[in-house]
Amino acid sequence: MKKINTLLDLSGKTAIVTGGAKGIGYSIAYRLGEAGASVVIANRNRKNGIDAANKLKKFGFKAFAVKTDVSKEADVKNLISSTMKKYGGLDILVNNAGIYPSVSLEQMSLRDFQEVISINLNSVFLCTKYAAQEMVKKSKGGKIINITSVDAIHPSSVGLAHYDASKHGVWGFTKNIALELAPHNIWVNAIAPGGILTPGLKRLQESMPNNIDNKKMIEDITQKLPMRRLGDPDEIGKVALFLASDMSSYMTGTQIVVDGGMLLFM
Ligand SMILES: NC(=O)c1ccc[n+]([C@@H]2O[C@H](COP(=O)([O-])OP(=O)(O)OC[C@H]3O[C@@H](n4cnc5c(N)ncnc54)[C@H](O)[C@@H]3O)[C@@H](O)[C@H]2O)c1
Repeated sequence: MKKINTLLDLSGKTAIVTGGAKGIGYSIAYRLGEAGASVVIANRNRKNGIDAANKLKKFGFKAFAVKTDVSKEADVKNLISSTMKKYGGLDILVNNAGIYPSVSLEQMSLRDFQEVISINLNSVFLCTKYAAQEMVKKSKGGKIINITSVDAIHPSSVGLAHYDASKHGVWGFTKNIALELAPHNIWVNAIAPGGILTPGLKRLQESMPNNIDNKKMIEDITQKLPMRRLGDPDEIGKVALFLASDMSSYMTGTQIVVDGGMLLFM
């Protein structure tokens, strides 16, 4: 039986975290780096990505940033080849980057819908496809972790129809790919966060599209939460570390809900 510190040790492993500059992605990158992994921050905003990688290096972790818009195939190919060039392998992929702009069906344009699907769902397909190719080539197995949402199970509010469609899609994709990649010892799982206090959620709180009062809606949800508080990004980081490590050696094709009990009342 492995000792607890060995179970959590990711030394010698390489992990890509998409959207790793801020919020949940940064917290995941931090925990994987702390566990010894070399972390690649794949972020759309170049400066934010470099700042995050530098912050991780100051803690003594191994990190570097590759400017990536995860919805663009050429960017994703460049992300994977830069990772292989820098670290010589890829063991863990965290598909975290995502957006959740609030807009009613009446106001939602095809462009709004496609943008959310492209960043939240197409990106998971692209990153998984090119990451899995390298993992299969090296024959050392791997871990793929998709950040879905409670909205992959049950809608949290109006104005997120495009988002809910994308997150249900990611959950379906997770299960099918888990089946396809299992013969290669690549385990694919998802984490479904509830309300987590991140820059993205703060932006949502401050926006009020077409009379949807997001601030009040989030306050109402928080009041009803069994834990009476929103989550901290590290509360997702810790679960991602669990899924990235040997602690979860017999898990694939599953989704862990981390929501402070939100689904109990929805
Ligand atoms: N915060 C929550 O309450 C919550 C709840 C459930 C699920 N989630 C999911 O967690 C993930 C992260 O959310 P967050 O709240 O930390 O968001 P955030 O907005 O705080 O941070 C997202 C990061 O992703 C980056 N990003 C956005 N689009 C990108 C793109 N096309 N390519 C590369 N990088 C991109 C941003 O620059 C930013 O660094 C998302 O998939 C989101 O749907 C969040």
